[in-house]
Amino acid sequence: MATIIILTLITLASADYWTDRAHLIASDSSQNIGSSIVLSDKERQVNNILMGAKFKEYDQGFANPETFLPAQHFFKSKSKIEESGVFKFIQKVPKGASLHSHDSALVSLEYLYNLTYRENLYGCVVNQRLRLHFFDSASGDCEWELIQDLRKQNSSFDEYLRSQLSIIVDDPEKEYPSITQVWNRFMQTFSTVFGLVAYRPVFQDYFYQALKELYDDNVMYIEFRGLLPEVYELNGTTYDPEGVVGLYLETLEDFKSDYADFFGARFIYAPSRSVNNKTADDYVTTATKLKTLFPDFIAGFDLVGPEDRGKPLVQFIPQLLRLSKSMKFFFHAAETNWCGTTTDMNLFDAILLNTTRIGHGYGIVKHPKLLKEVKERHIALEVSPISNQVLKLVDDLRNHPGALLVAGGFPVVITCDDPTFWGAKGLSYDWYMAFMGFASRESDLRMLKQLAINSLKYSAMEEEEKCDAFNKWELMWNRFLDEVLKSSVSKYFDCYTVNRVR
Ligand SMILES: *[C@@H]1O[C@H](CO)[C@@H](O)[C@H](O)[C@H]1NC(C)=O
Ligand SMILES: *[C@@H]1O[C@H](CO)[C@@H](O)[C@H](O)[C@H]1NC(C)=O
Ligand SMILES: *[C@@H]1O[C@H](CO)[C@@H](O)[C@H](O)[C@H]1NC(C)=O
Ligand SMILES: *[C@@H]1O[C@H](CO)[C@@H](O)[C@H](O)[C@H]1NC(C)=O
Ligand SMILES: *[C@@H]1O[C@H](CO)[C@@H](O)[C@H](O)[C@H]1NC(C)=O
Ligand SMILES: [Zn+2]
Repeated sequence: MATIIILTLITLASADYWTDRAHLIASDSSQNIGSSIVLSDKERQVNNILMGAKFKEYDQGFANPETFLPAQHFFKSKSKIEESGVFKFIQKVPKGASLHSHDSALVSLEYLYNLTYRENLYGCVVNQRLRLHFFDSASGDCEWELIQDLRKQNSSFDEYLRSQLSIIVDDPEKEYPSITQVWNRFMQTFSTVFGLVAYRPVFQDYFYQALKELYDDNVMYIEFRGLLPEVYELNGTTYDPEGVVGLYLETLEDFKSDYADFFGARFIYAPSRSVNNKTADDYVTTATKLKTLFPDFIAGFDLVGPEDRGKPLVQFIPQLLRLSKSMKFFFHAAETNWCGTTTDMNLFDAILLNTTRIGHGYGIVKHPKLLKEVKERHIALEVSPISNQVLKLVDDLRNHPGALLVAGGFPVVITCDDPTFWGAKGLSYDWYMAFMGFASRESDLRMLKQLAINSLKYSAMEEEEKCDAFNKWELMWNRFLDEVLKSSVSKYFDCYTVNRVR
């Protein structure tokens, strides 16, 4: 009798244990990005296909950690990512908007390189760094030679030229022992590319191509940052900031007339943060004028450049308070591993200035109060996994703070920053890293759907336009589901779908 009672008690106690365990697990994942979404039948079928590919790849990584791609440097993992079934799936997902990228690193490296075959392009090497410029006939400050001639004269020139257009190297651990070396190279790359893309015909073709590559990656809308550099013609005519915005708009209109289902683009004026008060006053004048002239196209304002070395937001408060009357803000803040430094403190100023979104916000997980604020006030964090890895904030993307942000359901959008310079293209590579590197093994289609929804929700669009965008996105989403199911006997998902989807 006593034995029976004891056994029953043990069984009851252990039943409690398993119930508690299931509850704890469910409750832990109940905040994940996407956890509030309930999948339709069709979505569940598509999800099975996705998760078949994900489990296979994830579990292979668990068994053989050296094969897991988000743990490897992107220069090494890129070509393997392109073979991943999960990546191919993500490419097809209608991803909504691209919300953080920069004017001179928007296109694929291949396209940028191809631009160096254009006529009238000259090069000149100063301090082992290539400068590029288009001229009718070169003169002046440098020993300019036609790129075409340099290629002919010297067979190793082309390889050198290519190396100047990105930060890609064979051995990043050796070449970039710290953030200093990689940021130096990164800034030098901008300086080489600058004269190439600021030539008006190239400038417009380049922007068109940027839109095309995003469109091909199933992105419908973009908000990008830019310096509004002085764009030039061969005859010496140059364009001021208003003129440059005009060029963007002209190209955008061309693109939209060629691709009617592309939703649109907006611009965030983002000049250098390494300036004095006088220049910051000029920024206010320029930004205000641009907003008046192009109220719809100009989304807002930001400051760019190396955050650790440039001026922090706190040194521009009077200017930014003036600007806050007419502009939304999209500040880069805490793109750093250093807690409590000026870079990190940018988070406080960005939030106090009512920033609409935060660029990176990498350091925010060290500030519980700020985490609470961004969640309550719907200030989205623009998370760029690959950028943070190649610019040396983190090696293994499973250790990126994005993991906590995804698990905690924070307002996150996944962004690409400067894909040209590390050989990425569009948004899919970064989405892949977030899905495989940040998220749980169990995170599924609901996360991808929520990330797409977030990208529209946290955009600078007005409410009515947002609704329109959502409706268009939903149509694309449904078309996407149908296409996946139709092609679900394709080679990547073969065995899995035969068993699960009928
Ligand atoms: C670059 O040029 C090569 C050779 O002409 C061409 O095959 C390729 O499609 C071009 N790529 C892009 C992105 O324009
Ligand atoms: C060829 O170009 C490379 C890269 O610019 C340079 O290092 C090398 O000295 C050049 N060789 C000659 C013979 O000019
Ligand atoms: C310079 O070239 C541009 C583009 O071809 C042209 O629109 C402009 O009229 C030219 N200006 C002068 C002064 O020739
Ligand atoms: C602008 O002037 C204020 C007041 O003198 C100073 O605190 C701030 O650091 C200056 N900002 C910059 C960017 O030099
Ligand atoms: C930010 O928003 C709060 C609440 O709406 C407001 O009180 C404050 O003045 C705003 N700050 C700025 C700099 O616009
Ligand atoms: Zn950025």
